[in-house]
Amino acid sequence: MKQILVTGGTGYIGSHTAVELQRAGYEVIIVDNLSNSSVDVLDGIEKISGIRPVFEQFDLVEKDKVDAFFAKYPNIQAIIHFAASKAVGESVEKPLLYYRNNLVSLINLLECQLKYGVANIVFSSSCTVYGQPDHLPVTEDTPRKDAESPYGNTKRVNEDILHDTIAANPQLKGIALRYFNPVGAHPSALIGELPLGIPANLVPFITQTAAGLRSELKIFGDDYDTVDGSAVRDYINVVDLAKAHVVAVSRLLGNKNKAGYEIFNLGTGNGVSVLEAVHAFEKATGVKLNYKIVGRRAGDIEKIWADTTLANQELGWKAEKGLEETLLSAWEWEKRVRGIN
Ligand code: NAD
Ligand code: WQD
Repeated sequence: MKQILVTGGTGYIGSHTAVELQRAGYEVIIVDNLSNSSVDVLDGIEKISGIRPVFEQFDLVEKDKVDAFFAKYPNIQAIIHFAASKAVGESVEKPLLYYRNNLVSLINLLECQLKYGVANIVFSSSCTVYGQPDHLPVTEDTPRKDAESPYGNTKRVNEDILHDTIAANPQLKGIALRYFNPVGAHPSALIGELPLGIPANLVPFITQTAAGLRSELKIFGDDYDTVDGSAVRDYINVVDLAKAHVVAVSRLLGNKNKAGYEIFNLGTGNGVSVLEAVHAFEKATGVKLNYKIVGRRAGDIEKIWADTTLANQELGWKAEKGLEETLLSAWEWEKRVRGIN
């Protein structure tokens, strides 16, 4: 069985990807420092797949630990690197924490890949690297813009670190996947997104409001140049997203990549406004949301959605799940976590 290292594998997207990798016949080894996830996630993965992933708890910033890990697991074929700090607002307050965590982790992994001969890496990038694009939808050739936050800048710089390291070391191959807005949960409701504290992202805020944890959802702005004035995003189901990682790993292992370093957008190709998302949630779940329109959120962009042609054609991957099904899965997960029937 081919061994895949999943960093950040007890996190939201990593846990769903671990399940899909196991379903595809890979052996998953998770490294996570549990800074933003719980060890209980391993139980959820095991309940779904019947297989408990190997788990090593340490911080990828600590080089000696990363080195000892690769010495212990000499048969790893590929890395999917999810581990990162991801809260945009916190990154503005604590830029050094974000630069250290997100940049040093990747550098440590790449140095160990060279030392231990691990050829393949898939990196979690983000549509945040596009900022507010001049033309929509965005293709992979759309120019990146200056980041709006230190978090966004770590994605941009990490893409450059990958590009430059692969250019200098042709034995390495990498794929950067630029996620649009990952939402929803596994249909089993055994794993999902569990933010600490008050959620910054829309869908966890919606489900927590529906569950009664928050009194009302604030919709940030209704004066954008969009279909109904609220901001537009491309919400991609997390299981669809997870499946794209399996394809990316198989592409690298099968030497089907066309260049040493490749980039793919992962979205649905559909732009959805905040109000449309709220109404889709209400329709899918039958739960009425208490919401209020307030002013714009600082740093928000007006609208973005993906051109997914490249991923469709080159990876043979396409988002399959619709918005209502996806929002219902987020609600089923929230209900299970909160003990609501
Ligand atoms: P998450 O916080 O749920 O998962 C990240 C995991 O990495 C957590 O379990 C955390 O404990 C772990 N981690 C963080 N720093 C670590 C370190 N130094 N050593 C070991 N483990 C560490 O986040 P997620 O939503 O699953 O995101 C996964 C990746 O996808 C991140 O790189 C994120 O930036 C990127 N991404 C996320 C989104 C999104 O909206 N969720 C969008 C685009 C890109
Ligand atoms: C979506 C829309 C909000 C909460 C962030 C990061 C980005 C990427 C994905 C990692 C926006 C609106 C939200 C609320 C609202 N992450 N909203 N009320 O801002 O597209 O992107 O996550 O790479 O880098 O910036 O996602 O879920 O925060 O917001 O009206 O309570 O919902 O204004 O228009 P965003 P989001």
